Amino acid sequence: MNFDRLFEPVALGDITLKNCIAMSPMNLGYTGPNGYHSDQNTAWYALRARGGFGLIITECVVMNPHRWGGQESLNPSLLIDERYYRFHSEMTEMLHHFNGCKVCIQLSPGWGRQGHPHAESRDCPAGAPSPVPLQVDLRHLNKGWEKQIKRLSPEMAELVPDFDVLRQMDDAAYASMVDTLMAFTAEKIPEMLHIIYGDTPRELTIPEIVDLEDRFAVQAQAAFKLGYDALEVHAPHGYLMHQFLSPRSNRRHDIYGGSLENRARFLTNTLMKTRERIGPDKPLGVRLSGDELMPGGITHDEVVRVVALCRKAGANFFNISQGSYENPGAAFAPDGEDEFTRWAPGFKEAAEGLPVITPNFIHPETALKALESGSTDIISLGRQAIADPFWPVKVKEGRIGDIVKCARCQRCYMDLMTANWARCSVNPLVGKEKYYPELFLDTPKLQKKIALFTKKAQDLPQI
Ligand SMILES: Cc1cc2nc3c(=O)[nH]c(=O)nc-3n(C[C@H](O)[C@H](O)[C@H](O)COP(=O)(O)O)c2cc1C
Repeated sequence: MNFDRLFEPVALGDITLKNCIAMSPMNLGYTGPNGYHSDQNTAWYALRARGGFGLIITECVVMNPHRWGGQESLNPSLLIDERYYRFHSEMTEMLHHFNGCKVCIQLSPGWGRQGHPHAESRDCPAGAPSPVPLQVDLRHLNKGWEKQIKRLSPEMAELVPDFDVLRQMDDAAYASMVDTLMAFTAEKIPEMLHIIYGDTPRELTIPEIVDLEDRFAVQAQAAFKLGYDALEVHAPHGYLMHQFLSPRSNRRHDIYGGSLENRARFLTNTLMKTRERIGPDKPLGVRLSGDELMPGGITHDEVVRVVALCRKAGANFFNISQGSYENPGAAFAPDGEDEFTRWAPGFKEAAEGLPVITPNFIHPETALKALESGSTDIISLGRQAIADPFWPVKVKEGRIGDIVKCARCQRCYMDLMTANWARCSVNPLVGKEKYYPELFLDTPKLQKKIALFTKKAQDLPQI
């Protein structure tokens, strides 16, 4: 099979990607204490850059400095002020050693009701559009999550031996079961509770929302100065920006609630303020769930209208996802692949020719088909990039049989959610990249620079 189409260059704002293969944004929790980028962060990304990805999109980096941001529970990477800058610049410089690899930061205004403040700041509820708590319906847990829950709690495996029964329960049967399930979770896997039942958040004031819009634009401008080539606004998966878009979580009656234009105002204001600071051509994208896939949530038709509003507000590329924490099977971890392409035509039409990124692939054949369909311009790999950082170069070399395939076991995500060092069940290197620099420091550009220096050093006499 000829995969040349995957390796055609593609324009994104004022930059050109060397191929149509991106790595999806993924928070693996490798950030150092207090949200500083760590050596493991850099090594993790550098190995994927070495593997040939044309665009690396970072994990969601949070610019919200306030205690009500809601994001502390997972120790995310931060970009809230100058103290964080040098660590980001080290990483972008490293990734640029890899033959034209471009780096996009995914910047987030926070997690709102989908994250808890750290135990030490429990006095400070997370800020959200409205005081509506998150509540996961456990019937949405798919095979991957089922596997992980049973791994962490053999007792749960005994209580619910067949999750298919749970998945097919009607509302009455589920209601009679849910308290037992929650009590079990509280006892056996308490780390998971905050993902399932959220605290009631606090309604953000208008000055607080405007403050976030302004700060976002400042940090976005800083990100470009730190070497990022592109920036994506984090607005999918039920996080803070998505909470504003969704009528399920946004019950406001002011200029940030009600009509779709009002619910999208936080996002469109953020885009306009950012565009004003970074100039007309820099790649400024938005990631959106193509459909919330929850009753009363934002629908695909509305999301398509949001894409058009974002385009008018200055976005020039779009990245598709789906769902929210309340529907974790769909949002983060489809058991299979190519589930998101169904939203691509709507995005593509509303984007009026601007590039669209579509994730959720394992096999190069499926990714190629999505590109050839014309509904997407860039394909992106999430968990498959964890399983095999060398996917792009293996495809380019025709070594398809050598690709290590993602098992869709959801180990990576469960480790993140339960505050463990993220690992992968098919790739033993994951989480240990910093101990194997020989795997990515072989980049010719870096070697040439280093050789120049070491050669000169060798000429110097010993004194
Ligand atoms: C461990 C993990 C962390 C993730 N973190 C983020 C994130 O920070 N931002 C984001 O937009 N999506 C995040 N995602 C979702 C992925 O970008 C992607 O949409 C999802 O994994 C489905 O694609 P895949 O089937 O290729 O993995 C994460 C996924 C995983 C598995």
